[in-house]
Amino acid sequence: MNSDPIYIFRKTWGTYQKVIRHNLMFHREITEAARRLLKSRPGPLNVIDLGCGDAAHIGKILEPGQVAEYCGCDLSPYALDVARNNLIPFGIRVNLLCRDMIAVLKEAPENHFDLVYSGYALHHLPIEAKQAFFTESRRILRENGCVILVDVMREEGNSRPEYLDNYNGAVATQWLALTPDERDQVQEHIRNCDFPETPGILQSLAENAGLNQCRRLEKRTWHEAWCYQKQD
Ligand SMILES: C[S@@+](CC[C@H](N)C(=O)[O-])C[C@H]1O[C@@H](n2cnc3c(N)ncnc32)[C@H](O)[C@@H]1O
Repeated sequence: MNSDPIYIFRKTWGTYQKVIRHNLMFHREITEAARRLLKSRPGPLNVIDLGCGDAAHIGKILEPGQVAEYCGCDLSPYALDVARNNLIPFGIRVNLLCRDMIAVLKEAPENHFDLVYSGYALHHLPIEAKQAFFTESRRILRENGCVILVDVMREEGNSRPEYLDNYNGAVATQWLALTPDERDQVQEHIRNCDFPETPGILQSLAENAGLNQCRRLEKRTWHEAWCYQKQD
């Protein structure tokens, strides 16, 4: 087995790109919902993107003139290399950090960002870190700023084992655009790394942090987009 991190990144990232190309995680509808919301905020906006990966989604939800400052963080240095290229059309100085998102949030300046965005990354974190995500986001948001969270979420009343059975069942029967080997790779990743919450639990965490206006922007099976902000 090849254990070279660049090889592993290319292999898993290649599978993720295939998932996106075939819209298996509904990136198309989800990014469109985020784009619609952000159209009403011409900016220019200070944006922080947590678990940004290759940042390809940023070009789909924001116009170049809409961004004043972009800070992205991810644990993968290889993804950040791709992100650096994908962000060139924005023509702004970008700050890409290869660090854990909660550590980055804790050090971010107070009252500075208009948008905290996170796509398909928060479900990897334990519940305490998810609470810290909302608490710190609220601290770094400017007046009228918002959190857009895109993530997989359990159905209300479903346990994690039920979620895993249902999601992996759908991968087995509906993700036929992937090869059997790629489907196995995805299912193993889900079994080991997915700890999704229900929308209700996430809403409680957001409300605990003072983000008391919570609304769903899109839902396609377990794939959801939510906007959280503070309303006096
Ligand atoms: C499925 S990808 C999503 C990438 C991109 N946000 C998108 O929407 O397409 C999840 C990303 O989250 C990153 N990630 C996972 N846990 C993280 C953490 N604790 N801090 C920062 N990044 C993390 C992974 O390295 C990976 O690039």
